[in-house]
Amino acid sequence: MEELYLGIETSCDDTSCAIYSPSRGVVVHRTAAQLDHEKYGGVVPEIASRSHMRTLLPLYETVTGEAGVELPSLAGIGVTNGPGLTGSLLVGLSFAKALAYGSGARLAGIHHIEGHILANALENPLVLPALVLVVSGGHTQLVAMEKIGRYEVIGSTRDDAAGEAFDKIGKLLALPFPGGPSVELAARTGNRASYDFPRALRHSGGYDFSFSGLKTAVRLEVESIPAITPQIVSDVAASAQEAIVEALVDKSFLAVKEMHTRSFYLAGGVAANCRLRELMQERLGSAGIRVSWPRPEYCTDNAAMIACAACHHIRAGRVDGLDLNSFARGNLLSWAA
Ligand SMILES: Nc1ncnc2c1ncn2[C@@H]1O[C@H](COP(=O)(O)OP(=O)(O)OP(=O)(O)O)[C@@H](O)[C@H]1O
Ligand SMILES: [Mg+2]
Repeated sequence: MEELYLGIETSCDDTSCAIYSPSRGVVVHRTAAQLDHEKYGGVVPEIASRSHMRTLLPLYETVTGEAGVELPSLAGIGVTNGPGLTGSLLVGLSFAKALAYGSGARLAGIHHIEGHILANALENPLVLPALVLVVSGGHTQLVAMEKIGRYEVIGSTRDDAAGEAFDKIGKLLALPFPGGPSVELAARTGNRASYDFPRALRHSGGYDFSFSGLKTAVRLEVESIPAITPQIVSDVAASAQEAIVEALVDKSFLAVKEMHTRSFYLAGGVAANCRLRELMQERLGSAGIRVSWPRPEYCTDNAAMIACAACHHIRAGRVDGLDLNSFARGNLLSWAA
């Protein structure tokens, strides 16, 4: 019987289910984005958890139906149990526990950030040891990864995450939610040298990042412009995007040089950004470092990465009981010897 893993991801506002096979890769993956949050300009936790409750069961039935998988034949179930919104996490966690209880399938709670990192293992084997830049809505971290299950966070943002900075700048420019993809789209027709926005901690702070000063600089600039035209929006978007991307690339370059790393991965929603990919490839690639990233649908929240992570946990014997709990906050910890 084929070894198949079910992944469930409900940590924020996307409901996602997937089936992963270690030999075939992603068998079926479906993510249902919640659009109800758009009019509030941000994720409303109560709306998110209620929406997961409506969506998860039909999504699970679609995914297992398309994959032709019966619950008792699963090799294991992976579920994100943190960090994230507690109400949202509990919907996925309770569902996964019920499936595990009913079928006897092995259960693995997955740290959401490990999921983002292992999205890089969905289509190709990882080249390790590596450095990983996790850039998402809630995290900006440089992670030294010796092997799957062994992680050391060597740098973090001191304030806003890169994705949060994109989202806040998108909001300041009255662009559609979420800001990241909207800022990238607007930036395509803008001049990235129009505004000289700050690159905080460029020559200090080790491998740490800071983006709150940039957000304030963009706000002050926008407030000083009497009439904002679409071209100004594009120019501000392009200049702000450049400031974020350069800060990310500078620190990544410093880290790979100082740690003598030959392999580098991007992970998380901001890894979908084409300018980040381009500049990272330009700077690190030309120094002989192998740079890689997941395809866009596996950069933002998805259950395929959770199913893949569960495969690694369960194969290594790291299995959870039905007393598995959720956690709203918590660092990525090593679990392998
Ligand atoms: N093309 C893009 N350019 C820049 N940012 C992007 C792009 N696509 C998505 N993002 C940003 O990525 C973030 C969403 O990523 P992700 O789903 O990984 O975050 P999250 O799950 O909310 O946070 P975390 O993973 O830290 O818990 C948002 O901030 C979004 O604006
Ligand atoms: Mg995420």
